Amino acid sequence: MSSKDQVIVLIGPMGVGKTTVGRKLAKILGLPFVDTDALIIDTHGPISNIFEEQGEPTFRAYEEDAVAKALSEPGIVATGGGAVLSQKNQEALKSATVIYLSTDGKHMGSRLKSGNRPLLKNGLSDWRKIYDSRRKIYESVADVEINTSGQPLTATISEIREKLGIND
Ligand code: S3P
Repeated sequence: MSSKDQVIVLIGPMGVGKTTVGRKLAKILGLPFVDTDALIIDTHGPISNIFEEQGEPTFRAYEEDAVAKALSEPGIVATGGGAVLSQKNQEALKSATVIYLSTDGKHMGSRLKSGNRPLLKNGLSDWRKIYDSRRKIYESVADVEINTSGQPLTATISEIREKLGIND
């Protein structure tokens, strides 16, 4: 196993299923699972409070720390949708296998309702604008892209395993 194979990172827009896919993949592969949003929450409290009281730049600084920590040990890492904005994170991701979960955006409306995301005050229209502004970055840092549109979790997992050459 090369060092790049030891950390698998999921990137992609808000609500695409990075945490769900990451958790499942970790279970199948018997590897630890880390979610960078969860690391931030554990240390600094709810994300919406951080945005409100300390501002987005502070959140992004916390996110850089969380990404560095998550990438320092073998495992599966789910990142927040904006983690790829940071140059530092983009550099750090070069040491890992990066999977971009993309979507055509259908069915996103219902998926986003359950979340409490400070950047989505105007719901789906904000989501679209933000995703469009980041598409190129996701594509440029990814080793593999999986289009999750209209496919169940099991199909996404199978595709990841196939593309990464992970056998039983
Ligand atoms: C963000 C995505 C969120 C969270 C924060 C900001 C973003 O994570 O990190 O609300 O900028 O796209 P999810 O992608 O898990 O929703």
